[in-house]
This record gives sequence, structure tokens and C-alpha cells, in this order.
Amino acid sequence: MTERVAIVTGAAQGIGAAIAKELAADGVKVVVTDINIDGATKVAEEIGAVAKRLDVSDPEQANAVVAETVAELGRLDILVNNAGLVPYTPFDDLTIEQWRRTFSVNGEGLFNMTKAAVEAMKANEYGRIVNIASNTFVAGTPNCADYVATKGAVVGFTRAVAGEIGKYGITINAVAPGITASEGVFTTGHGEGFDYVVPMQAFNRRAVPADIAPAVAFLASEKAEWVTGQLLVVDGGHTRN
Ligand SMILES: NC(=O)c1ccc[n+]([C@@H]2O[C@H](COP(=O)([O-])OP(=O)(O)OC[C@H]3O[C@@H](n4cnc5c(N)ncnc54)[C@H](O)[C@@H]3O)[C@@H](O)[C@H]2O)c1
Repeated sequence: MTERVAIVTGAAQGIGAAIAKELAADGVKVVVTDINIDGATKVAEEIGAVAKRLDVSDPEQANAVVAETVAELGRLDILVNNAGLVPYTPFDDLTIEQWRRTFSVNGEGLFNMTKAAVEAMKANEYGRIVNIASNTFVAGTPNCADYVATKGAVVGFTRAVAGEIGKYGITINAVAPGITASEGVFTTGHGEGFDYVVPMQAFNRRAVPADIAPAVAFLASEKAEWVTGQLLVVDGGHTRN
């Protein structure tokens, strides 16, 4: 994928950082973005990439980062919408404020970045958009209804938009990881989920971010031309629908 240019959101750590590394290893010029610029800079330095601060919930920042990428690197071929909040709150304690906050990043962030990227990709009649969903949408995982609802939104958005942007040569797909040992998982209540989930997987170990990245890289590649509007579950066989 040499010469291709990608933006990965939420790439300062966890699954996003693994995706940035995987794409860079495939020869892609990666723009590592995150609200945490120090973390993004560290990842970018490691893979010889560019880092940019980006809060995906802000449409102006989304537009600016896409415009800067095109100005500095000449084009935009790949967008990976990975940035996300992963809260863990029982429904009894869930508030409308938290619901809005989770949707502002996981839902509006997805919209802001996709809107800006599609405009840039139209120019080259080529694009690959990969949205990070979650297998919690398939499993109906409890104690994170706001989060699971945003991931349902990711799947619905992916399916709906696919039919409208194929005419520009752009594909859009979603990848649904299962529980994965990222930094974020261990700073929330999700980490305890491994004890419950690992025995249900086909493989008896915890997933790590590097287990998720190759599926994303495939959907971001030229070879995935005939795949669009799909949800690819990457969870070691935890959910088998
Ligand atoms: N780890 C899992 O078990 C798991 C499972 C399924 C899906 N996912 C999804 O994978 C993605 C990455 O998750 P992770 O586990 O690596 O999380 P993480 O918390 O380790 O990393 C998330 C990154 O997103 C960044 N971020 C947060 N808000 C942002 C914003 N407004 N704008 C830009 N960046 C922002 C954070 O700074 C952080 O670097 C998320 O979309 C998450 O929902 C994770």
C-alpha cells in the first residue's frame, strides 16, 4: 500500500496504535491522531509517521485535520474511525449526560470524520473507511448500554452510507473486536470481563490490540475492493453468529 495516506483516530494507545503500526508496516503514510497529542507523538515517532491532535467530537477539528493531511501529504486514501469512549456503567446509574457524552465521541465523531474524509476521497475516486464497532453489539453486553448503543449506530451508519459512496470508489466497513487488552479496558470495569469471555472464545487467551489490526488493514487495502457495508467480527470466536 505504498503511497497510500491514512488517518487513524484515537491512535495514541490500544487498538488505534496497533492499527497505525500495522498500516505503517504495510507502507502506508499514517497520520496518527488523538485528543492525547503526547501519546500520538510517541506512536508516530515509533513508526516514522506524523502526529496531529484531534478531538473527533469537534467538526471543525475534523475538517481541519483532513484538510491539513491533504495539503501536507497530497491525498487521503484511508480513514480508520477508532477513537472511542468505553464507559462501564450499569443502566440504573446511567444518566442522560453520560449518554450524550458517549454519543458525542463514538457517534458524532464517526460522522464528523467520515463527512470530512468522503469529501477529500471523492477527488481521487478512491477511499477505504474502516469503523471500529464492538462485538458487545452482537452479544448485548450488560453494564454499558450507552456504549453498546453507539456501536449499533456504527454498524447502522456503515451499512447505510456504503450504498451512497460506492459511486465515488469508496468502501466503508466495520470491524467488531471482542474484549481486547488495551490500556482503556483496564482503566474501566471492562477488564474483569476477560474471566467470563475467554472460556467462550475458540482460543484460550486474552486478545491484544495486534490481534485486531490485520483485519482492519485488509479492509483498508486495495484488495478489499468488493467488500463494503459489512461488519467483520474479530473476537477469537467469542460470538459465532
Ligand atoms: N478494547 C476492547 O475491549 C474493545 C472491544 C471492542 C471495541 N473496542 C473499540 O476499539 C476502539 C479503541 O478502543 P481501545 O480499547 O483501544 O481504547 P483506549 O481507551 O485504550 O484508547 C482509545 C483512544 O481514543 C482516544 N480518544 C478518546 N476520546 C477521543 C476524542 N474525543 N477524540 C480523539 N481521540 C479520543 C483516547 O485518548 C485513547 O487514546 C474504541 O472504538 C472501542 O470502542 C475496544
